Amino acid sequence: MTKQLPSSKNDQIDTLCAMSPVVPVLTFRTTEEALPVAEALLEGGVSVLEVTLRTPVSLDAIHMLAEKLPEAMIGAGTITEPNLYKAAEEAGARFIVSPGITTELLEAGIESNIPLLPGIQTISEMLEGLRHNYQRFKFFPASIAGGPDALKAYSGPFSDVKFCPTGGISLENAQDYLSLSNVMCVGGSWLTPQSLIENKDWAAIKHLAEETTSTLKR
Ligand code: 3PG
Repeated sequence: MTKQLPSSKNDQIDTLCAMSPVVPVLTFRTTEEALPVAEALLEGGVSVLEVTLRTPVSLDAIHMLAEKLPEAMIGAGTITEPNLYKAAEEAGARFIVSPGITTELLEAGIESNIPLLPGIQTISEMLEGLRHNYQRFKFFPASIAGGPDALKAYSGPFSDVKFCPTGGISLENAQDYLSLSNVMCVGGSWLTPQSLIENKDWAAIKHLAEETTSTLKR
C-alpha cells in the first residue's frame, strides 16, 4: 500500500512559507560564517533559512544555528537520501528540502517528525508526490523547468497544489512567481553572495534581506 502523508505535514509547510516570502538557500564554507550570516538575515526580516548539505560543515552549522537562534526556523536542503534526512533532523533542522524525489525520501518525510518539501521539475514527479498525499513542492530548477508560465499552467489541473520555486530566482524576477496563486514563497541564494560572505559584509546581507522583504508582495 502507498504510504500517505498526514495532511498536517502539508499545513506545516504552509506555516513555514507564511513566515517569509523568501527562503534563503545557504551554503556555508565555514562554521564561523554561519552565525553572522543568519543573524544578518534575521535582522533584515528573514526568519526561515535553508542550510544546504553541500559542504562538510553543514550539519555543524545547522546544529549551532538551531541552538543559538531558536527564533529562526532553520531547515536543511539538498537532502537526497533518508540517511541525510535523519542526520539533519538530529542536528536540529526543523524542515527538510530535497532537490528531487525518490520513494525512499517521500517515505522518510511521512515517517519523520519534521516536514519535507520535496523538489519536483515535472508533472509526472508531482503525480508521484500526490500519490503519497504531498501537496506542497519545491519547483526546481524553476527558471529551467518553465518559470512562472509553467506554474501558471499547473494551477488549472492542480488547483490545490502549491509551490516554492527555487533556482534562477532573484529580486528582479521573484515577484513574477509570488504573484501567482499557487506560489507560497520562493527560494534562492541571491541574499548571500559569496563575495559578501568572504568580505564579512554582514551589513550588506542585512540590507539585501531588508530590501527583499520590503519589496516583495504576496
Ligand atoms: C538551490 O539549491 O535550491 C539552488 O541552487 C538555489 O538556486 P539559485 O542559486 O539559482 O538561487
